Amino acid sequence: MAWQRVASFSEIGVDGVLGVDVNGSPIALYRLSNEVFATSGICTHALALLSDGFVEDGRIECPLHQGQFDIRSGKALCAPVTEDLRTYAVKLEGDDVFIDIERPAASAQVVANVAPDRKAADGVQAAEEDSKANTRKIVAMNTEPEPSLTKRYVWPVEGLTRIPDWVYTDQTIYEREIEKIFHGRTWNYVALECEVPKVGDFIRSNVGPTPVVVVRADDGSINVVENRCSHRAAEFCRELSGNVKEFVCPYHQWSYDLRGNLAGVPFRRGVNGKGGMPADFDNAQHGLHRLKVTTHRGVVFASYVRDMESFQDYLGPDVLKEFEATFDGRKPRLLGYYRHTLPGNWKLYHENLKDPYHATLLHTFLVTFGLLVAGNRSLMLADATGRHGVMASAKSERKSVSSDAKKEMRAYRDGMTLAEPRFMDFIEEFDSPWSVTMATIWPNLIIQREMNTLGVRQIVPTGPHEFIMKWTMFGFEGDDDEMIRHRLRQGNLMGPAGFLGLEDNEAIKFVQDGMQHVPGGQHLVKLDPAVAAGTSDSLISEASIRAMYQHWRAEMGL
Ligand code: FES
Ligand SMILES: [Fe+2]
Repeated sequence: MAWQRVASFSEIGVDGVLGVDVNGSPIALYRLSNEVFATSGICTHALALLSDGFVEDGRIECPLHQGQFDIRSGKALCAPVTEDLRTYAVKLEGDDVFIDIERPAASAQVVANVAPDRKAADGVQAAEEDSKANTRKIVAMNTEPEPSLTKRYVWPVEGLTRIPDWVYTDQTIYEREIEKIFHGRTWNYVALECEVPKVGDFIRSNVGPTPVVVVRADDGSINVVENRCSHRAAEFCRELSGNVKEFVCPYHQWSYDLRGNLAGVPFRRGVNGKGGMPADFDNAQHGLHRLKVTTHRGVVFASYVRDMESFQDYLGPDVLKEFEATFDGRKPRLLGYYRHTLPGNWKLYHENLKDPYHATLLHTFLVTFGLLVAGNRSLMLADATGRHGVMASAKSERKSVSSDAKKEMRAYRDGMTLAEPRFMDFIEEFDSPWSVTMATIWPNLIIQREMNTLGVRQIVPTGPHEFIMKWTMFGFEGDDDEMIRHRLRQGNLMGPAGFLGLEDNEAIKFVQDGMQHVPGGQHLVKLDPAVAAGTSDSLISEASIRAMYQHWRAEMGL
C-alpha cells in the first residue's frame, strides 16, 4: 500500500467535494457526514472535473451533462454516464486524509474512513488496530487499478467514423505522441543532403518538437544529434546553419566533435587540485544523444529507435514508388525556404492532404486554372499500415471546364485569368502519370510535387494547438536557369500565402478553434463508406483519414 496524504479533513465541506491532484491524476474527495470517500476526478462521460459538480444524497452530479455517480461505489446512476468511476481507499489520521491509488483493498474490507476525533470510539479503535497489525480498517471500495489513459480517453463507440476533440486539444495526448510517435518507431525527416554538402556543414532541425542538429562529419557521414548539451542541457547550437570544426557549448564551453562525442571539458581537473570532475569521469559516456540516421535519394531521416526497419520497408512499395517518382535519382538542389506557424494541431495537416474532398470546394485557384477538376484522373493512396498517403491527380488537358463540372466545384470562378500565363506551364520531367502528388510521410513530412514546383514540408509540433511548418523548396542539379526561374515562379502556389496553401492554413485554424471550447466534442469522418479505411479511387472520400487514425490509435494504445 502506498498511502499518500492528499488533503486535510477540514478542507472538505460537509456534503461537499474537493478536487486534488495526485501524481498528475485528478482525484475527487467527498465528505458525507463524517466519512470521506475518493473517486477519480474526471467524469467517465466527457472528461469534466467532478470537483465542479454537486453532491446530494450520496451522489455526485457531473457539472457538464448532469450524469450522476454513487459516491461510495462509483457506480454510474443515470444517463448520459454509463461507465463507473474508479474509487480509492481512504484513511483518516487526525485531520489528515490519505488515499492509496495503487492497490486499493477489496470492498469487503471497508469502513474506517471515519474521522477518529469525530466518531470517537470506532475511529480511534480503528486507527489503533491499523497501526498495530497492519490489519485492514481502511476503506476500500474498488479492486481495480489506477485509472489509465484508456479509461480517461475513450474513443467513440462508432469507431473510426468519429474522432474525439481530445485527439487534437489535450496536453497529455500531445506528450504521449512525442514519446510514442516522434520518439517511437518512426523515420522522421530532418534535412536534404544538399543542405550539408561539405564536412562540418550543419543545419538545425527537429524530430517532433525536439531540436536536433544535422551535421556532416569528417568521414562524410551524416549525423543527427540532439541540440542539448550533455552538461546542463543548453541548446548549444544557436545558428540555423553553418560550418564548424567542432561544436562548443556557450555556457561552460564543453566541446563536441562532428559525431557528437564529448571532446573537452574545461577545468576537468579543477584548479590547484581542487574542484573539477570526479577522477572517474569518462568523456565517452557523455557525448551528445545521437539518433539513428538513414538517407534515401538525397533525403535524410532520423529515428530514436535503434533497430528501425529500412526506410524502403517503412514506406511500403506503393508509397516508395511515389517517393522515387519525385526523387528520381537526380541530385536535389536547394532553392529556398518558407517557414511559418499554424494555429492548429499537427495532425490536421496530414488530414488536409488525405482529404481531397475539400479541394474543389475550398481552392478557387486550383479549380479555376484546371489543376484539379471534377472528373480528372486521381487517386488517394494509403500504405498498408495507414500512416502514409499520397494524393495524386492528373492535370486536365481540356481548355474549358464543362458547365456540369463547374456546378460541382463551388470554388470555380468564371472570368479569372492569369496575367503571367507561363505560371501554369507544366514541363514534363517525371516518369509518372500524375501532374500533382502530395505524399504524407508519417509522422512529419509532406513531399509536394505540384507540376514543377517541388518541396518538402517538415511539421514541427510545438504543443497540441500549434505547429511550425518548414518548407524547403528544391529543384535538381542540372536544371538550367530557365527551369530554376520556372520552379521559383510556380512556387507562388505554395507557402504561407501561396495561391493554394493560403486557404488550407486558414481552414486548419478554423477547425482547431471549433474544437477548443466544446467539452466532449467529436466530429465526423464518414465519407466513402465502401472503403472502411485505406486506399480509395474516389476523391470524395475520408478513408485515408480513417486509415491514419487506425494506425495512430494502435501506436498510442488508445
Ligand atoms: S551547459 Fe553546456 S557546457 Fe555547461
Ligand atoms: Fe487544400
